[in-house]
Amino acid sequence: MPSGKDIHDFIEKVVPPQIPASRTHDPANNLKRTDPFQFGSRFLEEGDNVYEFNAWDHVEPDDEFKAFAEVQYEKQRAAPVSDFDRNRFNTDPVKWWNLFYKNNTDNFFKDRKWLRQEFPILAEVTQKDAGPKLVLEVGAGAGNTAFPLIRNNENEGLKVHACDFSKYAVKVMRESEQYDEKYMVADVWDAAAEPSEEGDSLPPGLQEGTVDVVILIFIFSALNPNQWEKALSNIYRLLKPGGVVLFRDYGRGDLAQVRFKKGRYMEENFYVRGDGTRVYFFDHEQLVQLWGRWTPENGLKIDLENPPTAEQTAEEQNPFEVLNLEADRRLIVNRSSKLKMYRCWMQGLFRKRGGSDPAPAPAAAPAPKVDVEVVEVEAAADAENDQ
Ligand SMILES: C[S@@+](CC[C@H](N)C(=O)[O-])C[C@H]1O[C@@H](n2cnc3c(N)ncnc32)[C@H](O)[C@@H]1O
Repeated sequence: MPSGKDIHDFIEKVVPPQIPASRTHDPANNLKRTDPFQFGSRFLEEGDNVYEFNAWDHVEPDDEFKAFAEVQYEKQRAAPVSDFDRNRFNTDPVKWWNLFYKNNTDNFFKDRKWLRQEFPILAEVTQKDAGPKLVLEVGAGAGNTAFPLIRNNENEGLKVHACDFSKYAVKVMRESEQYDEKYMVADVWDAAAEPSEEGDSLPPGLQEGTVDVVILIFIFSALNPNQWEKALSNIYRLLKPGGVVLFRDYGRGDLAQVRFKKGRYMEENFYVRGDGTRVYFFDHEQLVQLWGRWTPENGLKIDLENPPTAEQTAEEQNPFEVLNLEADRRLIVNRSSKLKMYRCWMQGLFRKRGGSDPAPAPAAAPAPKVDVEVVEVEAAADAENDQ
């Protein structure tokens, strides 16, 4: 049992499962790309040199890694965050994200250029003749999704609202030379806000039932699970009937979860990083439950615009449809340090019920986001060095 091993030693020795070779290794195919090239198609086959590329698609962790992960989780539970810290990090989460953006400005996350491939609806709303389209990015950070979106935009009628609860993140976006007020507005907004005496819980300038697309990229993981209900309810209110949610976030068993050491565990699958920001790791069934089965018995409660009728099936009564949800599993290889890292992200497309438009097409397969994720894991490794 590898319980005593240091995580670094362990991921160096990972032996990923290799599927039987299905293609000849002739030089014409030595990039292992299908013709025409399809994203998400670089399979690790028997006979391949794992260090030949810096990422392989759809690689499930081997059994030894899974056992190692379980041992790690036990250790994490045995040494949770102190009550003092739990309180500190949960009471004022914006303070820690403000510090994060003061320290990292706009250089931490890489531009998420792959989003249009992953979510074709983003290409649709930026087309010349798409007409008025309202996109809301929640937890927009430094604008690494919003900026590529407006850079590639040909639609005069597009407006992107990029919101974050950190005023420093919003400042970074507003001060960027890419910030174009014609197509974009960056505002401070807490996704888990509740209506108060000062006003409604919706972002500045946005009305109920007006948003075509909500983008949630690595934001739900930053919320405490007890905030999901509020955030979902706000998103539901903002969307038009038939409006869609584009979701990408950390998946259960991702190396970033396994590597947490003592003093970081807050509750099951929820941790605090060395910089005070929090992170949750999702699994498939839980996301289906959250977005797809929103019943009083099983899920979150919500005031529906159109309460379910007796004629509707249980499925039809759910406020959102899960159009697509999959785990994006990759083996990321650091070729110089010879580390092999199992990564897992969850990616989904959800639609608010109602509306008459046909469902948007999900992407065929998750695209390689190697440039982004390698940077993330290495930065995360640095961030976790203090553990
Ligand atoms: C991991 S970062 C992701 C940033 C951006 N979506 C990206 O992918 O580059 C999470 C972001 O969510 C923001 N955030 C966390 N909790 C939030 C909340 N309750 N409301 C709005 N934004 C929040 C943080 O300030 C941070 O910018």
